[in-house]
Amino acid sequence: MTVNRGHFGTRLGFVLAAAGSAIGLGNIWKFPYLAGENGGAVFLILYLGFVFTIGLSVMLAELAIGRTTQRNPVGAFNALKKGPWTAVGGMGVFAGFFILSFYSVVGGWTLAYAIKSATGLLATQDVNALGNAFGGFIKNPLEPLIYHALFMAITITIVVRGVDIGIERACRILMPLLFLLILVLCARSLTLPGADAGIAFYLKPDFSKINGSMVTSALGHAFFSLSLGMGAMITYGSYLSNKVNLPQAALWVTSLDSIIAVMAGFMILPAVFAFGYDPAAGPGLTFITLPAVFSQIPGGMIFGTLFFILLAVAALTSAISLIEVVIAYLIDERKLSRPRAAIVSGTTIFLLGIPSSLSLGIWSDFTVAGKNIFDIMDYLASNIMLPAGGIFIALFAGWVAFPKIMDGPKGGIGNDFRWTWIWQIICRYIAPAAIAVILISGL
Ligand code: PHE
Repeated sequence: MTVNRGHFGTRLGFVLAAAGSAIGLGNIWKFPYLAGENGGAVFLILYLGFVFTIGLSVMLAELAIGRTTQRNPVGAFNALKKGPWTAVGGMGVFAGFFILSFYSVVGGWTLAYAIKSATGLLATQDVNALGNAFGGFIKNPLEPLIYHALFMAITITIVVRGVDIGIERACRILMPLLFLLILVLCARSLTLPGADAGIAFYLKPDFSKINGSMVTSALGHAFFSLSLGMGAMITYGSYLSNKVNLPQAALWVTSLDSIIAVMAGFMILPAVFAFGYDPAAGPGLTFITLPAVFSQIPGGMIFGTLFFILLAVAALTSAISLIEVVIAYLIDERKLSRPRAAIVSGTTIFLLGIPSSLSLGIWSDFTVAGKNIFDIMDYLASNIMLPAGGIFIALFAGWVAFPKIMDGPKGGIGNDFRWTWIWQIICRYIAPAAIAVILISGL
């Protein structure tokens, strides 16, 4: 029964790989536009609040479930308690399929933008022209699909080789590089003339504008951004050796992820205001404003190209963690070979992504409650599936699996963890109740 599982060699390797899963398009593409749509500072505060309470606790729960059982999400629930809980793992595998299908479409945009920057197509500070360029690109029926295919092809190629070789090595070099580049861009964006309005929007909360959908979005995004609620962190925990201190690792990953998101806000929002663009412009925001920032930097074309390449890499490391949930399940539970599992799931995901991509152009007339297919997929995944998964994972960790995931042959959270009682109260009561209230009120 035991499958030879890959393992992360070191704690740093693990933290970087798990941070690689967490840090991705969620931080750099999605967070700034959500903040732009949802009142800036209010969204930032809600998001950080959820990240460091519910998010951190569910992160620890997932890592512990994974490390104790050394299994994929379905097998992990099954190993700890036979019965209906296994369905939570199954939901996670489904969410992996679902999320990656539209995630890869945006991943494709980053590849396209790397090329467009390199060829000088985006070298202007005229945000309206950049907005038209972006609109024209995503409306095209074919071009984004080619990049979506390319993005999935790269993802499949990496995961065919297994988890420890590619991921760990790539993350070690490329993630710090992305971090540096974001720092440079923050500096430029913050010093643009007219940036203050953006800084105020981002840091001065106007609580009179708060509404239920902001709260739902902030909670959903906390899950999405930390890769929680669908078993990605269970899968990564299962590759983890017993030397690593779990609470510390969870805190590291959570902090790194939210730091990058906050920085992405500083990189995009001041520029949005400086260039006179609309902060509520939606999913195009990062792709439209960043090229304008690059045009204000000497060597902007090179910086721009490098940035979009690194963003594509960050997206890839997240995509890998999404597909790894599906693949680990197919290998462990369905006994498929790794290459077969990768190719079958990757191709299905690619096909599933096509409607999302087309819904931004030729299929844009098809909407439900004002949302196109792309928005619907994102909404269902981030605001419903992941938080719902989070409820069950928290309940499972707090009630059902509790003593088992504290310790075990492979190590759980560790019995010396000082905050066990707080963590358990959050998992048993606070997180499930809070998420349920927000989910229900959001419907
Ligand atoms: N956290 C990733 C990001 O921010 C996306 C993701 C969601 C990855 C869920 C895995 C699971 O880009």
